[in-house]
Amino acid sequence: MSHDTIAINRQRQDLSQHESVWLFGYGSLIFKADFPYIQRQPAKIVGWSRRFWQGSHDHRGTPEAPGRVLTLIETPGERCTGMAYEVKPEVFEHLDHREKNGYLRFTTPMTLADASVVDGLVYIATEDNAAFLGPASDAEIAAHIAKAKGPSGPNREYLTKLSDALRALGVHDPHIEALRDHLPKAD
Ligand code: SIN
Repeated sequence: MSHDTIAINRQRQDLSQHESVWLFGYGSLIFKADFPYIQRQPAKIVGWSRRFWQGSHDHRGTPEAPGRVLTLIETPGERCTGMAYEVKPEVFEHLDHREKNGYLRFTTPMTLADASVVDGLVYIATEDNAAFLGPASDAEIAAHIAKAKGPSGPNREYLTKLSDALRALGVHDPHIEALRDHLPKAD
């Protein structure tokens, strides 16, 4: 699959008839909400965990030196806490552009902080996308993150801002905290 997913995503769901759509964010969509939203609430999805297994060619790295960013990996029994945003359907034009490097929109149920369950969309970079990097040791992933940078800034900032945002939500994510612990000091 090509890693520019804009055209594919447009065809995956026709959102034009919806008044609003819920979006589940688990990575940069938690700490960087650069789009208008109607409301937002912390939320959980079941059966997934976040992993720094996706290459970033356009935000935290370049095509020659990709960074490492998050995707979701199916993990039965696990819960992933993130932020849910209720947005107008037209916001997906911006989101599809932002998430174009390998992410596809999937439909998922999510449980909001107020205990209601809603169906919404989540961007996942599946293993078959051209930018997928896959697993490595915590030390290797942290060393990679420490040296990468791209148009959206240093890759390490993605990790530290996400970790700060999760801590603020009261969430301890062992993968994220282990990577933060392994992060070499900034130059
Ligand atoms: C997300 O945050 O939900 C998707 C991955 C990213 O943009 O970091």
